Amino acid sequence: MTSKDESTGAAAPGSGSGEAKKLYVRSYGCQMNVYDSQRMVDALAPEGYVETTDMADADVVVLNTCHIREKAAEKVYSELGRVRATRRERAERGRETRIVVAGCVAQAEGGEILRRAPGVDLVVGPQGYHRLPRLLDEAARRPVVETEFPVESKFDALPAPRPEKVLARGVSAFLTVQEGCDKFCTFCVVPYTRGAETSRPVSAVLDEARRLAAAGVREITLLGQNVNAYHGEGPDGRDWTLGRLMRALAEIEGVARLRYTTSHPLDMEQELVEAHRDLAAMMPYLHLPVQSGSDRILAAMNRRHTRDAYRAVIDRVRAARPDIALSSDFIVGFPGETAADFEDTMRLLEEVGFASSFSFKYSPRPGTPAAELGAQVPEAVKTERLHALQALLARQQTAFNAATVGRTVDVLVERPGRHAGQVAGKSPYLQAVQIDEPGIAIGDIVPVTITRQGTNSLFGRLAGAGSERLSA
Ligand code: 5AD
Ligand code: SF4
Repeated sequence: MTSKDESTGAAAPGSGSGEAKKLYVRSYGCQMNVYDSQRMVDALAPEGYVETTDMADADVVVLNTCHIREKAAEKVYSELGRVRATRRERAERGRETRIVVAGCVAQAEGGEILRRAPGVDLVVGPQGYHRLPRLLDEAARRPVVETEFPVESKFDALPAPRPEKVLARGVSAFLTVQEGCDKFCTFCVVPYTRGAETSRPVSAVLDEARRLAAAGVREITLLGQNVNAYHGEGPDGRDWTLGRLMRALAEIEGVARLRYTTSHPLDMEQELVEAHRDLAAMMPYLHLPVQSGSDRILAAMNRRHTRDAYRAVIDRVRAARPDIALSSDFIVGFPGETAADFEDTMRLLEEVGFASSFSFKYSPRPGTPAAELGAQVPEAVKTERLHALQALLARQQTAFNAATVGRTVDVLVERPGRHAGQVAGKSPYLQAVQIDEPGIAIGDIVPVTITRQGTNSLFGRLAGAGSERLSA
């Protein structure tokens, strides 16, 4: 899962009061961190904390970190330098500031963070967020490191946000249903930082989805590091698959769109594929990382699938939902990757065709098996391969978007547009669409004829009669 780094959003109403305690949370990395950041805000709301987007105004600063690639952790250490400078300025004004490092860097580095960045008050791993109020109290006395995997579930213990807070976060919401991973790809830190795979019970997921829908949310993206391995306990005492869960979610009134990320090719079960075929709410979009197109490299990565097996999964999904937009993650320069291996990846791209993708240079992560391998690929070669791969991906993305021009798609309106009188939303294929039409309500799903393709979005107008619809 990949997304831009961001803070969790606007200050809560009432944050103008001189008495309120202010909380600033910055999220790095994947969507699961965005979800966790929101839940940290929810955990501290009953303690009287309101959110601020201004770090200089915050009594508590939380960096919710990502450890997936090297630069992400380095970014955190440089950001900590800025946070400590802000704390010094605040101290001159007689204000105290607590600094919290959460997320996967916290889990992986633990007490090392206190050594490398003195002044941090609390280091807390992803499983400890429900304990934040108590941990912050303790941290007022001495620095605290909490990286245990507690027996109680943080999901059961985290308070639910108020409905107005839910809607302020948008009509499209994240919902974590599964955490951790048992796959142990040799390049990946996730099995170590997020731990073994666990799924939330069906009833907990449905309750949270009902609360989101009741607050006005129209689209729910189910999150998990290995989300299609979901196997939460159902009300019947049996484990439910993700496909079965989707069927139950699709019945909740108000839930118009369902998405899920990130999936593993091995877990693309038939029930989930059939949900794509049968449920109007299931959006025709699948993020299914392949990482490499070379069988030799896939084996060295311990991906447990071949390129043919990946293509067979795609064929099954396309048979069920021919218009599905595909997305993937790619790593170039994995140890031992030859020019021929890289060519295999480029060929796979050509054969499958992706609507969008994320691609990275391999970076050795401490403690993972691949970091110990010889034959590390030189940086210049990685850069060259990444450029070639990204150029091809960009061409595919442009072609995919160009094919939408002239067609009519349903757009979920999410926010005001860039210019007055415009609104912005998403197509079923996760394309950003700007609509030149005042007066459309946020949360509406409207048919839009795409008129042109811009650099980052498509542009369109409300569809008239006789247009050709791309989706139900
Ligand atoms: N180096 C480069 N990319 C990585 N990813 C995970 N670990 C590494 C690593 N060590 C990428 C994978 C994964 C995505 C979230 O990040 O492509 O799917
Ligand atoms: Fe990491 Fe592989 Fe698990 Fe994905 S499937 S989280 S890449 S170990």
